[in-house]
Amino acid sequence: MLDIPFAPDHDPRAFRDALACFATGVTVVTIAGPDGPMGMTANSFASVSLDPPLVLWSPARSSSRFTYFTTAHFFAIHVLPADQAALCARFTRGGAGFTGLKAEISETGVPLLTDVLARFECEMHATHEGGDHMIVVGRVQKAVLRGGDPLVFANGTFGRFLTEA
Ligand SMILES: Cc1cc2nc3c(=O)[nH]c(=O)nc-3n(C[C@H](O)[C@H](O)[C@H](O)COP(=O)(O)O)c2cc1C
Repeated sequence: MLDIPFAPDHDPRAFRDALACFATGVTVVTIAGPDGPMGMTANSFASVSLDPPLVLWSPARSSSRFTYFTTAHFFAIHVLPADQAALCARFTRGGAGFTGLKAEISETGVPLLTDVLARFECEMHATHEGGDHMIVVGRVQKAVLRGGDPLVFANGTFGRFLTEA
């Protein structure tokens, strides 16, 4: 049974809570920043197209690093496993980022994380207006699949995926 409908403009908290019901995986998006490797935890990742191979994610305009992430020609998106909540925390506000972390650098100069479920190395394909976020579409040039148990995010908390018995 659904509750009383609300207008997002009038009840932004309820709007956020309703959006947060949608469970997602967790990714870290990386770029070569002006002063070294940069990464941002993001759950806005989505697949877009198989042919051509396109994916998207949405950086917030409020991020201090918004310009870097929306103008980078190349970036990589890493899908985190369930046991990498610490990696996720590293790349949120106030986290350690790449400090003390070993990262490979791709042919296009992008820092790459290992021990992830999947990794998509992308070339910037398009950006689209998206309100207080920007929609960044990447064309996947290379992908790596290791597979395993994904880190899941819903209702503001982290968990694991349980399959039906
Ligand atoms: C699970 C999770 C998902 C997030 N997803 C996004 C996202 O899709 N886009 C975004 O801009 N920030 C997202 N954030 C917030 C960023 O990781 C980061 O904390 C914020 O952008 C940091 O801002 P700064 O760049 O000013 O330090 C997410 C944070 C968490 C914990």
